[in-house]
Amino acid sequence: MAITAVKGFNDILPDESGRWQYIEQTARRVFELNGFGEIRVPVMEKTELFCRSIGDATDIVEKEMYTFTDKGENSVTLRPEGTAGVMRAFIEHKLYAQDPIAKLYYLGPMFRYERPQKGRYRQFHQIGAEITGVNEPLADAQVLNMLTTFFREIGLTEPTLQINSLGCPECRPGYRAALRSFLEERMEHLCEDCKRRFVTNPLRTLDCKVPGCIEATSGAPSVLEHLCSACDDHFSSVRRYLDLSSTPYSINFRMVRGLDYYTRTTFEMVTGLLGSQSAVAAGGRYDGLISQLGGPSIPGIGFAMGLERVALLLGSQKFVSLPDLFIATMGGAERDVAFRLMDGLLKSGVRVELDYEGKSLKSQMRRADKLKARYSVVIGGNEVTSGRASFKRMADGIQTDSALTVADIRSLVGKSDL
Ligand code: HAM
Repeated sequence: MAITAVKGFNDILPDESGRWQYIEQTARRVFELNGFGEIRVPVMEKTELFCRSIGDATDIVEKEMYTFTDKGENSVTLRPEGTAGVMRAFIEHKLYAQDPIAKLYYLGPMFRYERPQKGRYRQFHQIGAEITGVNEPLADAQVLNMLTTFFREIGLTEPTLQINSLGCPECRPGYRAALRSFLEERMEHLCEDCKRRFVTNPLRTLDCKVPGCIEATSGAPSVLEHLCSACDDHFSSVRRYLDLSSTPYSINFRMVRGLDYYTRTTFEMVTGLLGSQSAVAAGGRYDGLISQLGGPSIPGIGFAMGLERVALLLGSQKFVSLPDLFIATMGGAERDVAFRLMDGLLKSGVRVELDYEGKSLKSQMRRADKLKARYSVVIGGNEVTSGRASFKRMADGIQTDSALTVADIRSLVGKSDL
């Protein structure tokens, strides 16, 4: 029996990879315009890094990590997200010594042992960005504007931005206590997981998808009413900057994140188009993370988007690059001419396909159709002698006579501006 891929791990076939490249290129362009530089970190880290950053009582650390012991008896984990590794590198290489304000972006595979379904996989890909060293709400607003710009540039009107604030170590304990006393009276309606969360991480009960829990927590107190005055001011300023830059958003005070490192501003870009996988991108501020990982006390904020989810939203739009020209030939000697011409055209940036197998003219033209070439040309004895040929625009069949030179053909197929 043939060997298949591991469940939840996907191949990206050529038909699809054009769309991925389009997403990646758009992200790189928008992020670099905002002053972000790429950082590449390993896909595997010491397990302790994720326990310390994401948090022991999170679903990711409790149930979803690909953790194993390597041959040297070390516990290692395939990264379930990018922020922890990027901050580990930021500390390890003392990037803060050059400049505490670092703007970093990354892309690559992440691994979570979740139940696979549409938009949720065990190997998935994130494009993420992080800013360190800025406490000011201006940084929050720039990150949110950059994310919004990315989705606009890529041509999507979904998803939409939701924001919240989770407070800080000063005010969150007060909110946690208020939430616990609210939940205490509704314990019998909570699922088993939420009964456990009540003890370990009560905020997560607001995120539970079980209908009984949604109903039981519907009147839960809002975190926004328990912010200390510094966190409240910070959140107001973020909103003011978003208003100043006309960035649309809504407030979702029930938004809690699945990672423990967040403080203050958190956000998600959500869509109703992907079933239960509503978050296309998400992130927030993590002012305590760098010091928690053994670095100096430097704040940070960032996000990551799920590439698969962005690709799904882009739908069935095709992003494969189609051949500019298909060259059909009548026989042996003409194939030499066609080959030389193709070589020159490829070197000058025109995408050319050629008949490789000496098939009949009819089957060559069928192939030109199948490849969706924009133009086709048939090179026979007359064309070789005269050095000219008739080029057919495939969309409407219009024929144009042109010399068989690289310069003339480039201009004919519309590549003169390259
Ligand atoms: P996260 O919310 O866990 O945050 O993941 C970010 C995004 O990754 C999600 O919104 C979703 O689009 C995508 N994603 C997550 N899990 C899967 C999956 N199993 N299959 C497909 N896509 C998935 C983080 O990872 C944080 N590190 C974000 C961040 C950066 N916060 C601050 N900086």
